[in-house]
Amino acid sequence: MVVSVCFSARGTTMRYCEAVGKVLGSQKVLNWLRKEDRVPLSLSEKDLLIFACPVYGGFIPSVCRDSIALLKGQSTPALILAVYGNRHYDNALVQMQCLLEERGFAVKAAAALVAEHSIFPSVAQGRPDGNDLLQSEEFAFRASRCLTSTQKISLPGDRNADSHSFKGAAFHPAADGQCTHCMKCVSVCPVGAISQDSPQTCLEDLCISCGACIKACPCGARKHRNAEYGAAQAAFAMKCSARRENEFFFIGTE
Ligand SMILES: Cc1cc2nc3c(=O)[nH]c(=O)nc-3n(C[C@H](O)[C@H](O)[C@H](O)COP(=O)(O)O)c2cc1C
Repeated sequence: MVVSVCFSARGTTMRYCEAVGKVLGSQKVLNWLRKEDRVPLSLSEKDLLIFACPVYGGFIPSVCRDSIALLKGQSTPALILAVYGNRHYDNALVQMQCLLEERGFAVKAAAALVAEHSIFPSVAQGRPDGNDLLQSEEFAFRASRCLTSTQKISLPGDRNADSHSFKGAAFHPAADGQCTHCMKCVSVCPVGAISQDSPQTCLEDLCISCGACIKACPCGARKHRNAEYGAAQAAFAMKCSARRENEFFFIGTE
C-alpha cells in the first residue's frame, strides 16, 4: 500500500504530495491539518510512505514533529518532500529523515520544492506551476527505482539543529467587521487557536501562522493586519524574490 501523509494549510504542500502520489498509486492521503487525520498508522516493509511537510523557520511545523510518533514503520521505504516559500528549506529534510528513521522508516529519495510563501504570498506567487508539478512527477518515477536500495541517503542540513529554536512567526491573522461568525476558521485551525467566543481574533501563543483560517474564510474577513506586516512583506520580497529551483536527492545509484 502507498500512503501519503502531509500537512497542508494553504494547499501547496498537498498539490506536490498529490503529484508524487498520483505517479506512485497512493491509495490514501492524510492531511495532518485535520485533527481527525492525525491517527496511528503502521506500515510494513512492503508499503511506501510519502511524507510531505511545509518548512516553518527552517524546520517542519511543530505539529508535524509531534505527530510523527503516530507513524510506525518496519524498514518501510519513504519519500520525503519539504515544501518551502522560496527562502530556504534549511534543516527540514534532514530533520524529517532523522525523525522517520527513529520510527522505523528508510528514506530513499527527497525533494525540496518551492511554493508560494503562505505568509508573504507575493513571493513565489503561483507556484507550484505546471513545470514544478512535472518535475515532481519525474521525481516520483526516478524515486520508484531507488526503493530497494539499502544505502543511506545523504541530505543537506544540520541533523543536530534544535527545532525548538524556531519560536514561530511574528504575524497572526485576525478578522474585521466582515466576519459573520460562521466558525469555519475555528473548525479548520489545526491547533485550536481560534475560540468560538471570539473568532475574530486568535490566541497568539497557540497560533502557528499557517494561514488555514485565511483560506477557509468565505467572506475574506481574515488576514494579516499587524501594522508591521506591509513593511515586513516588502523587505522579505526584496530579499527572497529571486526564483529558486526545486532540488532532488536520491539514494545511491538508480
Ligand atoms: C510560520 C511559517 C514559517 C515559514 N518559514 C519558512 C522558511 O523558513 N523558509 C521558507 O522558504 N518558507 C517558509 N514558510 C513558507 C512555507 O514553507 C510555504 O509557503 C509552504 O508552501 C506552505 O505550505 P502550504 O501551502 O501547504 O500551507 C513559512 C511559512 C510559515 C507559515
